[in-house]
Amino acid sequence: MTPIKACIFDLDGVIVDTAKFHYLAWRRLAQELGFDFSEEDNERLKGVSRMDSLNILLEIGGVELDDAKKEELAQKKNDWYVELISDMDESEILPGTTEFLTMLREAGIKISLGSASKNARTILTKIGLIEMFDAIVDGTHISKAKPDPEVFLLGAKELGVEPNECVVFEDAFAGVEAAINAGMYVIGIGSKETLHRANDVVASLAEMTLDRLVK
Ligand code: BG6
Ligand code: MG
Repeated sequence: MTPIKACIFDLDGVIVDTAKFHYLAWRRLAQELGFDFSEEDNERLKGVSRMDSLNILLEIGGVELDDAKKEELAQKKNDWYVELISDMDESEILPGTTEFLTMLREAGIKISLGSASKNARTILTKIGLIEMFDAIVDGTHISKAKPDPEVFLLGAKELGVEPNECVVFEDAFAGVEAAINAGMYVIGIGSKETLHRANDVVASLAEMTLDRLVK
């Protein structure tokens, strides 16, 4: 049994409920382009980078655009998203998160963020949790999107631990795959159906205990 030295957390949908704001901003863009975008379609965007998300959205709507126009639309979506999260505070933290992070710190287990979002630091600051993290790896540091393991491997490196000493928390299918590809134990947050590839699944971090980190 390998002792667990670090936990790496995805942000959107694990620590904070921002998925609804991403969805509202993408749906607004879809409607402006003349098609509808369902919550079911939105599942495909979870954990996926901003530009990859736009490409999926355009594919759903059957819309083809050049790169310059895509840059413009990705920026527009982000402006709306940033506006939607502008009033965000600690009330948006998902159940059990602060308690579990505190438990880890007290147990001497290191904590990193492993998120695709370029808005991660802003969000962690707004919800008052930024000080809890020993390392923050986000969309501004990585060149390969989940399911590539880059984001999690970089987190382990920043913390000075081996991949097999880390546990990853993820709510997205692509994120679970990224953790598996990194050689890390992964706990899914959400439904067992969507996250069936994870080693363990909990409904929220409120269910987490230190014992559950052991493989
Ligand atoms: C991920 C979200 O965490 O970050 C995706 O699950 C989002 O929905 C991605 O597209 C990129 O986020 P941002 O804030 O850089 O547009
Ligand atoms: Mg997520």
